[in-house]
Amino acid sequence: MMKEEWKKQGFIDEPVADDIDLKKEIRKMCGEKNAIVLAHYYTRGEIQEVADFIGDSLALAQKAADTDAKIIVMCGVHFMAETCKILSPDKLVLAPDLNAGCSLADSCKADDLKKYKEEHPGYKVVSYVNTTAAVKALTDVVVTSGNAKKIVDAFPKDEKIIFGPDYNLGSYINSVTGRDMLLWNGGCHVHERFSVAGIAKLKQEHPDAVVLAHPECKGPVLAAADVVGSTAVLLKYATEHPEKQYIVATEAGILHEMQRACPDTMFYPVPPEVSEGGAGCSCNECDYMKMNTLLKIYNALKYEWPSVEVDEDVAREAVKPIQRMLELSK
Ligand code: 13P
Ligand code: SF4
Repeated sequence: MMKEEWKKQGFIDEPVADDIDLKKEIRKMCGEKNAIVLAHYYTRGEIQEVADFIGDSLALAQKAADTDAKIIVMCGVHFMAETCKILSPDKLVLAPDLNAGCSLADSCKADDLKKYKEEHPGYKVVSYVNTTAAVKALTDVVVTSGNAKKIVDAFPKDEKIIFGPDYNLGSYINSVTGRDMLLWNGGCHVHERFSVAGIAKLKQEHPDAVVLAHPECKGPVLAAADVVGSTAVLLKYATEHPEKQYIVATEAGILHEMQRACPDTMFYPVPPEVSEGGAGCSCNECDYMKMNTLLKIYNALKYEWPSVEVDEDVAREAVKPIQRMLELSK
């Protein structure tokens, strides 16, 4: 029987004996229960190490669509687990902590998008994967930062498009496709903290370093970058050029895999901007991603909870633009 306080808090924090090797136990339960652990590059290093598969949002969605496992433990944020459940409705999809949300997904409520669509008849809706299932259900095609350009390019040149919710990604895609999509004014609280000044300071110290930036960063930061792309694109670039040095403007969790893949390469994470009075966050980490812990994964597998459910009617609509994305990104 699930304890009431666990249900209320959205995760299980039952302690384990000090001598338990959580990683070993997680792998053991995965084998016994035919479960797979998927993890995003922004999760803690130890989670990336225990996972069966790590990837960017696109690769995680592709993996969730392909796996034969009966249980998927999605270590990322809530919309990623929802995407898994929508693609694999018959599987048990576990999220180690149901509170792991996303500020970007929160910046677009389904009711607001519905109203905006009604005000703009004839527009197609292209939504970033960082959205709730209810927003996806109102969408024509989903994109990730890894395939947004390719998918937007696939629309006829004169197609009228609403792009949301990330303003910075939308504006970047407008610039590289020559489109004039209407942009939702949403953003990610982590990526919006990176500044040109932060990059310039690191560049002074490491003039030869290549600047890598995620397209959720603001326009001036992207203009100062040498390579703009999804976490997987940035990682691929570094892996293919390990002889270079890198200034990295994205969530710092990616450095774990970058450093693992390129052990002799220097990576310099861009610190976030701190406002004049010293206020503001002094961290370039996504608190939501860091809510995933080994103990929560262990307990989620042991108790097969918390599971992520998506309303059937919503899922029936939301699966269409996700499938469209998967088709178009082949
Ligand atoms: P990626 O698709 O690049 O992995 O990005 C996901 C995300 O949440 C970025 O903040
Ligand atoms: Fe959402 Fe930003 Fe965290 Fe990515 S880094 S999951 S966009 S809050």
